[in-house]
Amino acid sequence: MKKLYEGKAKIIYTTDHPEILLTQFKDDVTAFNSLKRGIIPGKGEINCQISSALFKWLESKDIATHFIDQPAHSQMRIRAVKIVPIEVVVRNIAAGSLCRQTGLIEGKILPFPLVEFYLKNDELGDPLLTSDRLLLLELASQKQVEQLQSIALKINQYLTEFFASCQITLVDFKLEFGLDPQENLLLADEISPDTCRLWDQQTKSLRDRVLDKDRFRHDLGKVEAAYQQVRQRVLEKLGIR
Ligand code: TMP
Ligand code: ASP
Repeated sequence: MKKLYEGKAKIIYTTDHPEILLTQFKDDVTAFNSLKRGIIPGKGEINCQISSALFKWLESKDIATHFIDQPAHSQMRIRAVKIVPIEVVVRNIAAGSLCRQTGLIEGKILPFPLVEFYLKNDELGDPLLTSDRLLLLELASQKQVEQLQSIALKINQYLTEFFASCQITLVDFKLEFGLDPQENLLLADEISPDTCRLWDQQTKSLRDRVLDKDRFRHDLGKVEAAYQQVRQRVLEKLGIR
C-alpha cells in the first residue's frame, strides 16, 4: 500500500488493484479552513462506520457511490474516482454560513431545499460559486451540474427521512462526487457528523441539540459523545448493531 493523498480527516492509500483505493479515517479535526485544529478520540472509526452504513443504504436506493466495503472499523475500500472539485451543499434549515452571509435567522425552515456549489479549494477558502462560474471554470458540464443538483436533492430526501426516523433533524450537509473511468458520477468522500449539521429532536436546548462538528467549531463540549450518539442511532436503525 502506498499513501496517495493525505487530507485533513482521511488518508487515501493505493491497493494492489488499480481501480480500488483504501481510505483511513483519522481522529484529527479541523474547522474554519484549518484555523482551528484538534483531535476527537474515536472519530475516525465513528465517521467511517456512519459513512459506510449510509453509503450502503443509499446504494440500496439506487444512488451510485464509491463505497465497496469496510475492512476495518476506520477503513473503507472505495472505487478510485476522479474527484469533481465542487462541494455540493444542501440546506433545509438556515445555519452556518447561510446565516452569516444573508442575515437569515438560525433555525428558519427554508421554503425549499437550497442546493449550493462551492469551489473545493482550501487556498481560496472554498468560495461559493454561481452557475456561470461553474461553467466558466469548466468544473462540470451543464448536464453534470443538473445531474449533481438532482442527485443531491434525491439524497436530501432520503437522508432527511432517515435521520428523522432516528429523531435527528438534518439541517444541512456537504457532498462530494467523483467520476469513475466510464465518467459515471459517484457519490464520494463521506457522510458523517463532520459533514452534516444534525440536531437532536429529543432535546429543546439549542446547545444540547447539536450532534455534529459545530460542537467542536463553537466549543460546545461533549464532542465525542455527540458523534457516538449519531453512530448509535444510525447503526441501530439500519440493524447493524
Ligand atoms: P456552512 O454553513 O459552513 O457553509 O456549512 C454547510 C454544511 O457543509 C455543513 O453541514 C457543514 C458542511 N461543511 C463541510 O462538510 N466542509 C466544509 O469545509 C464546510 C465549510 C462545511
Ligand atoms: N472542513 C473545513 C476545515 O477543515 C471547514 C469546516 O468544516 O468548518 O477547516
